[in-house]
Amino acid sequence: MRRIAFINEKGGSCKTTLAVNTAAYFAGHRKRRVLLVDMDPQGQAGKSLGFYVRDMHPSVYDVLIDPDLPASAAIRQSHVEGLDVLVANKTLSDFPLDVAQHPDRERKLADKLAAVDGYDFVIYDSPPSMGIRTHNIMLACEEVVVPVNLTYFALDGCAEIVETVERMRQDFGKADLQITLVVPTLYRPTRLADEILTKLRKHFPGRTARTIIGYNVKIDEAQSHGKTIWEYASWSRGAHMLESLAKEIWRSNP
Ligand SMILES: Nc1ncnc2c1ncn2[C@@H]1O[C@H](COP(=O)(O)OP(=O)(O)O)[C@@H](O)[C@H]1O
Ligand SMILES: [Mg+2]
Repeated sequence: MRRIAFINEKGGSCKTTLAVNTAAYFAGHRKRRVLLVDMDPQGQAGKSLGFYVRDMHPSVYDVLIDPDLPASAAIRQSHVEGLDVLVANKTLSDFPLDVAQHPDRERKLADKLAAVDGYDFVIYDSPPSMGIRTHNIMLACEEVVVPVNLTYFALDGCAEIVETVERMRQDFGKADLQITLVVPTLYRPTRLADEILTKLRKHFPGRTARTIIGYNVKIDEAQSHGKTIWEYASWSRGAHMLESLAKEIWRSNP
């Protein structure tokens, strides 16, 4: 089983888009069993698949805070064959405070998901912060994919993730955790974007994705309809870019 997390503390870097569509590609195109776990209180991974997450119980939050509730009780089938989802909603905002005094607060997710089997992939969508929710994800995966919106401060965010991964490896003995791929996103052909792209490749040689995700409005539209890009506009440039990336992730098995 491969466990892959899409992480960047910056909002709007394409985490949710890439997590949802990569998961849907592995399930729909490659016929694998995939579990998508949303750890962002905004709940957009579930929303992108057409779930009305606001009133959904149990959600990932209930699993995390109720010692007697197994993850399997909160996993839902999506309309994409082979793709199951553990949705999040606003309740997940309370998680950091709820567990602040628990000595095992960083391991809640890993502990709960340890009992889940039958999946070829577990894919995580993460919140736009490097707090306890992201720490939980890092202890429940091996591969970190970092989508980077090519803007001026993008590299600051990357440095923060590199540092956090290193800290999790050392403090929690999670030696198999690594950044496997850095994905340039929302690319526009400007000099600044090209400069940042060059820097990114220099910082992450061999780990910067060959696929560059450019702007394509079909990607945004698909999400607003609760559909994957292949359901909504399989012929679009957006679909081609997302498929190319999903294939790269497929091949990047460390
Ligand atoms: N390549 C793209 N082209 C156009 N819009 C995009 C693209 N990728 C993402 N978006 C849109 O940008 C917004 C932010 O993307 P999202 O994946 O939600 O980022 P994050 O999860 O990192 O906050 C969403 O509305 C999404 O539909
Ligand atoms: Mg998101």
